Amino acid sequence: MKSWKNRSLIEARELSEPEIRAVLARAGELKKLWQGWRGSEFPHQSLRGKTVVNLFFEPSTRTRSSFELAADRLGAHVLNLSPEGSSISKGETLFDTAKNLEAMDPDLLVVRHASAGAPYQLSKIVRVPIINAGDGFHEHPSQALLDAFTIEEAKGGIKGLRILIVGDIAHSRVARSCIYTFRTLGAKVAVCGPPSLIPPSVESLGVTLDYHLHRAIRDADVVMMLRIQLERQARNTPGGTRANTQFPSLGEYSRFWGLNVETVKELKQGAIIMHPGPLNEGVEISQEVATGPYSVILNQVSNGVIVRMALMDLILGNGGRSA
Ligand code: CP
Repeated sequence: MKSWKNRSLIEARELSEPEIRAVLARAGELKKLWQGWRGSEFPHQSLRGKTVVNLFFEPSTRTRSSFELAADRLGAHVLNLSPEGSSISKGETLFDTAKNLEAMDPDLLVVRHASAGAPYQLSKIVRVPIINAGDGFHEHPSQALLDAFTIEEAKGGIKGLRILIVGDIAHSRVARSCIYTFRTLGAKVAVCGPPSLIPPSVESLGVTLDYHLHRAIRDADVVMMLRIQLERQARNTPGGTRANTQFPSLGEYSRFWGLNVETVKELKQGAIIMHPGPLNEGVEISQEVATGPYSVILNQVSNGVIVRMALMDLILGNGGRSA
């Protein structure tokens, strides 16, 4: 197993089961510590004296906030940089931005970018470890780790579970990272969505495919709903404005591939519903289902902070030495 110490995390595809297990185990320890703690400063200050730079070239609520909170809880200094208000808005390139930030001696860069491969390219030119916080429709590995942690917490394990991922698989970095991570941990993964939003070779990722949601959810222990990534479809469509023509209409999408109070009646007892966010309520999931008894969506958000604490603890703190 490769050590986590000073390591970049670019893809979930590259992670072995013991490497994922090291993150989930550390997250479990830190969650217990966090829940039992009532004070002004979290007792595990493993990032004290370290600087974490959040470099987000795309909008984010959950990922950016949770990396910031996670680093702060562990005692790091956090610098948040986005195109607005930085010299990126004056035309400075991604690489120049990264090299200039590197010259200020940060310890970790957390990077989100619209181009698949941008965090990987940066990892080749800067000496600082990089965590990919989502690159185009390639990968979002820390999301998959927090989702695996949430599944294990809710279901008591993940091996052998049937996990159904529903929606815009073709443009989803979350789907790709989750498929790799869940399969590495021994789950059976299926995907479901409109034919136009399923990549042609999806079964080569080791998943099964069903276009009919009503049929597919009957077997599922976990159902993960995805947002339609209109911003990425626009880039793939000449002119950009015909983005939503990959399916007839939002109403029709919702009728066939949306989760609502009627569809959840098909679910097995004890099944859970997940969504990485942001939600388009009324399209892929109804408000009643998102806040209903099957939903662990807000647990995913809380666990996002914990799992990102674990990752940074392993990469920058003492945790990495034993990994
Ligand atoms: N799940 C996720 O990546 O959410 P944000 O885009 O809000 O970070």
